[in-house]
Amino acid sequence: MTKAKFVPYRDFLELPEADMRSRAEAFRVTMARRRSIRQFSTRAVDRSVIEECVRAAHSSPSGANMQPWHFVVVSDPSVKAEIRRGAEDEEREFYSGRAGEHWIKALEPIGTVPLKPFLDTAPYLIVVFQKNYAISSNHQRLNHYYVPESVGIAVGILISGLQHAGLSTLIHTPRPMGFLRRILKRPANERTCMIVVTGYPAPDATVPVLKKKAFEDTITFF
Ligand SMILES: Cc1cc2nc3c(=O)[nH]c(=O)nc-3n(C[C@H](O)[C@H](O)[C@H](O)COP(=O)(O)O)c2cc1C
Repeated sequence: MTKAKFVPYRDFLELPEADMRSRAEAFRVTMARRRSIRQFSTRAVDRSVIEECVRAAHSSPSGANMQPWHFVVVSDPSVKAEIRRGAEDEEREFYSGRAGEHWIKALEPIGTVPLKPFLDTAPYLIVVFQKNYAISSNHQRLNHYYVPESVGIAVGILISGLQHAGLSTLIHTPRPMGFLRRILKRPANERTCMIVVTGYPAPDATVPVLKKKAFEDTITFF
């Protein structure tokens, strides 16, 4: 059995209460400006910004510290075009029957369609993979724990970081997503979770008018 080792925790940053409140509010305001963008500009984004945000995501907590994620940052136009072809093939099937009536109805107010030009125009497609298990050096299968929860938290940090840095995102999940594992040559122990389409919104980008639940209906204090 490996014995846990401990060191003093020195990274905590104590803040005056007033600063806590203003920082919490500033973060809320930044995040409230986030919308899913489906028309992206081709304007370039410095790769170091993307790297910083992926590093932030990589600092995420994870079940038993297994860090069951892998981020593939795609900017190569030919790979983006291949991803677009694969996504549109799946999306055409999805919208013409595979989704089922109920799902299609739920998507109506969002106005999504099978065509996905943003997969070409956005400068980055960050494809997030979840590692369902690991393979040890002696080829044994090692369990991972709370994989979807851990990857979901990491993606939450990623899109918050990108928003905080002044970029826009879209979570895109063309179903099924097996084609991404093939195009990006990821191993069999990984499953594609989502594409985080990242860049600047097109100058004429529009967003759907959506009804959101009242905040009061989503929180309870005991
Ligand atoms: C797990 C997940 C999957 C999503 N998949 C898609 C998708 O495949 N295509 C799309 O256009 N939007 C997708 N979205 C974006 C949602 O449609 C969007 O978040 C929702 O309509 C609320 O709009 P907002 O993000 O502008 O607040 C997804 C969002 C999440 C969290």
